[in-house]
Amino acid sequence: MPMMNHAPRQTTADCSILKLLEAQQGLRSVIDDVRRVLGVAVDVLIRGESGTGKELIARLLHEADPLRCGHSFVAVNCAALPESLLEADLFGYRRGAFTGATHDRAGLFEQAHRGTLFLDEIGELPPRLQPKLLRVLQERLVRPVGGSEEVAVDVRVVSATNRDLDVSMGHEGFRVDLYYRLADFVLDLPPLRQRRRDIPYLADHFLHLYRDLFDRRHIDTLGEGARAWLCSCDWRANNVRELSVVMKRAILLCDGPVLTAQHLWSAVSRGEGERVRQGPPDVDEHTRLEAALQQAGGNLSAAARQLGMKRSTLHDRIRRHRMHTAAQS
Ligand SMILES: Nc1ncnc2c1ncn2[C@@H]1O[C@H](COP(=O)(O)OP(=O)(O)OP(=O)(O)O)[C@@H](O)[C@H]1O
Ligand SMILES: [Mg+2]
Repeated sequence: MPMMNHAPRQTTADCSILKLLEAQQGLRSVIDDVRRVLGVAVDVLIRGESGTGKELIARLLHEADPLRCGHSFVAVNCAALPESLLEADLFGYRRGAFTGATHDRAGLFEQAHRGTLFLDEIGELPPRLQPKLLRVLQERLVRPVGGSEEVAVDVRVVSATNRDLDVSMGHEGFRVDLYYRLADFVLDLPPLRQRRRDIPYLADHFLHLYRDLFDRRHIDTLGEGARAWLCSCDWRANNVRELSVVMKRAILLCDGPVLTAQHLWSAVSRGEGERVRQGPPDVDEHTRLEAALQQAGGNLSAAARQLGMKRSTLHDRIRRHRMHTAAQS
C-alpha cells in the first residue's frame, strides 16, 4: 500500500541551502556531486575538516532531495553519547529492556523513516555497535534493544567524519565492511584555505546575516582592508564556522557604517587570537583615508597625493565610506 505523504513538497530549485552553496565557486564540484545522488537510494559519507560544512551538506542532501525532503532529518553525534545510550537512541528499545525502560521507544532510524539519518562523527562509533549498524544498512531492518521483532526502515544514511577513516581502517577499529557500506558515495569538503576566493562572498553573507539578526542596520559594508585580511587568514582552527564567529563578534563591536579590519582584529583577539596568529591586519582603507586626511589638515589634494591616488578617486572613496570629513580641496 503506498504511504501518503502530507508534508509540503519542495522543489530542488526552492532550496535555500542550495542557493547559498551554489554561489560558492570552490564548492562547485561538491554541489555537482550532490546533484548526482539526489533522488537516488545511496548512503553518503561526507569527509572534511571541522567547520567545513559537513552538516550543512547533509541537510542539503535531505532538503534538495525530492524523495526525502517531506520527511524527517534526524541527526545524532556518535561521539556524544555513551555506547549503551547511543544504541538505545539509534535502534530504540522495548519496555523492560533495561532499568528505566518503562515503555517502548522508537529509535532514530524509525524516526527518520523515509527521510535522512545523519550520523555525525561516525569514526567514533563504538566497535560493539558497528556490526549492528552494518546489519541495519544491509537489511534495512532494525531490531530495538530488548525486542524480538524487526522493523523495516527506509532511510538514507548520511555520515560524516573529520578524520581519515581509510587510514584508520584496521588500525583503530573501524570495520572495513562498514566503511564501504556507509560510503556508497563520498563527498570531500575542501578546507576554507583551499577555496579563498569564496571568502569575500561568505564574509558578505555573514555580514548580512548577523546585521539583520542583531538589528545592527547602521552597518553598510565591509571595508576593503577587512576583506583583504579575511582572505589572508588560514582559518585552520574551524574553517567556515571560525569565519562566521569572527564576523558575528565584529558586527557586535562595530558602531559605524563600515566594518573595518580593526573590528575584526578586536573580534579575534577577544577570542582565539592566539590560534589565528595572523598578526594585526593591514590598516583598513577607511582608517588609511582618515589618517591621510587628518595629516593633510583636511586638504583633499594633499591627502590624495600622500595616498598615491587621484583627487577624484579619493573623493569617491570618501563618499563610498560615507566619511564625514571637513575635507577641502
Ligand atoms: N559553505 C558554507 N556557506 C555558508 N555557511 C556555512 C558553509 N559551511 C559551513 N557553514 C556554516 O558554518 C557552521 C559550521 O558548519 P557545519 O556545522 O556544517 O560544519 P561541520 O563540518 O559539520 O563541523 P564539525 O566538524 O565541527 O561538526 C554552520 O553554522 C554552517 O551553517
Ligand atoms: Mg558537524
